[in-house]
Amino acid sequence: MGALFADYRPDESGTPCAVDVRVMARADLDGCVALALARDGGDPAAWRASFERSLDADDRVTFVATREERVVGYGTAGWFAPSTLGPGSTVPDGWYLLGLVVDPEARRHGVGHQLTTARLAWLQARTSRVWYFVSSANPASIDLHSEVGFELVASGIPVPGATFTESGRLYGLALA
Ligand SMILES: CC(C)(COP(=O)(O)OP(=O)(O)OC[C@H]1O[C@@H](n2cnc3c(N)ncnc32)[C@H](O)[C@@H]1OP(=O)(O)O)[C@@H](O)C(=O)NCCC(=O)NCCS
Repeated sequence: MGALFADYRPDESGTPCAVDVRVMARADLDGCVALALARDGGDPAAWRASFERSLDADDRVTFVATREERVVGYGTAGWFAPSTLGPGSTVPDGWYLLGLVVDPEARRHGVGHQLTTARLAWLQARTSRVWYFVSSANPASIDLHSEVGFELVASGIPVPGATFTESGRLYGLALA
């Protein structure tokens, strides 16, 4: 298993590289599962089932970034309803960015940014408000999302089904 978060290198700048960003197809499942396992570990079948949910759902999408037909990143977005998962959540039900992973060898080339703008374009047809939660220990992700306009809404928040290194933060973005 790799590191959970990228090393934070704000003094470096990335170099763009060409990737194909599109909605995940069934043929991409193995590549997505491999990336998720490399980062988070866990049960391959559970990851597969989680990605498969995006294939048929109206309220959820996974985009992939591919280079020479190989999946080098994925990002999911969809409706998330913490109120249905039990008491104790202070985060709203709504449309969320729900997971973004880029292959360590493909990082800092704009892949995460492209997967994020693709999901925001998909969400634009569905909502004027998008949410995203993140660990306070993940400044690389926080910078990426701040650059597309996300603003801090709350810190130290519990999110049902999520555990955070350090603490959880909720960010929001108003879509035009
Ligand atoms: C966070 C992650 C998705 C970023 O993917 P990426 O393809 O490397 O990101 P991009 O190249 O599109 O970066 C866009 C901007 O985000 C910021 N950024 C991204 N990675 C960074 C890093 N390691 N250090 C500092 N800033 C970073 C920069 O501002 C960057 O712009 P720049 O390269 O022009 O300076 C990737 O590091 C990753 O998969 N991390 C592990 C999983 C994770 O943390 N996911 C997010 C969970 S909420």
